[in-house]
Amino acid sequence: MDSLISSRGKIQSVPESYIFPPETRPSDLVTPLLKTIPVIDLETRGHRRNELIQHIIKASQEHGFFQLTNHGVSEELMNDVLTMGAEFFSLPEEDKARYYETSPSPEVCRLKTSIEYADEKVHFWRDNFRHPCHPLEDYIQLWPENPPRYREVVGRFSVEVRRLSLQLLNLICEGLGLEQGYFEERLSHRQVFSINHYPPCPDPTSVLGLPKHADPYLITLLNQGHLPGLQVLKDGEWLGVEPLPNAFVVNINHMLQVISNGKLKSADHRVVTNSKAARTTVVSFILPSSDCVIEPAKSLVNEHNPALYSAFKFGDFLKTYAMHTREGKDPLVDYMIQS
Ligand code: OGA
Ligand code: NI
Repeated sequence: MDSLISSRGKIQSVPESYIFPPETRPSDLVTPLLKTIPVIDLETRGHRRNELIQHIIKASQEHGFFQLTNHGVSEELMNDVLTMGAEFFSLPEEDKARYYETSPSPEVCRLKTSIEYADEKVHFWRDNFRHPCHPLEDYIQLWPENPPRYREVVGRFSVEVRRLSLQLLNLICEGLGLEQGYFEERLSHRQVFSINHYPPCPDPTSVLGLPKHADPYLITLLNQGHLPGLQVLKDGEWLGVEPLPNAFVVNINHMLQVISNGKLKSADHRVVTNSKAARTTVVSFILPSSDCVIEPAKSLVNEHNPALYSAFKFGDFLKTYAMHTREGKDPLVDYMIQS
């Protein structure tokens, strides 16, 4: 296993194994912000629930992405959790070494660099630390004791983001016309907390922080901090996601696309790097348990809207997700029903 980029000292030039062939390099590091993803204010629209729901559904259909403001998680906690993420990556190597892990299971703490280093032709300019975070009492003992406030801050953040994620899922549930509580329990059984750390890169035009991908779970809430880098693919064009103060970037994942029978979209996105400063982002993923059967919701399927996907176990999908994504295939390819 290779060491973190952030542990290698000052890097003067990009190693060969990180350089993409010219045709897949990010030519547009800075994209025009005139075109970007929708921004949804959770508070001012609170008294007009139907309008809020329509706004969320429309954004989830057209972009698969939106930014969420006035979401109720305090600015202090949003900033504290980013600080914890950055502080974790600046710990001495010996404090982090015990978390190096090769298992992709969402059930363990895992520190790694790039995505699956051993399987990649070209590596990504990213270090990552992730671990399960729900139910909190089952997992908090596995988390780092350093930085000293890590458990307290990440614990509070995880609980608040889970509450917010379930609030959004309930609004989506209503907007899709599904029975109340559809996403509660099995579909949203688990939660993973993840820190991405993108060290400054000497040549951002020849590397990627993360390749084009869509997230494999149910729903993602990202606190991207104050530096740009995330781009979303919309109609063949990469749109930059502007860092808005105290906002979450929300995106629909593959499982929500299947359950909504293709109505909601899990959009492709990627991360570009910069040469000036490290960018640290903090992510919460909501996901089903491995044996959970995923299929288009029965009430959305009829003779005019045939099922687009066959039923599968979430754990089986996860086994092939990384390989398909790496090969540029749609990871749902094995479950698509040809009409
Ligand atoms: C991810 C992701 C975006 C970012 O972790 O899946 O897309 O800006 N992160 O870190
Ligand atoms: Ni992602």
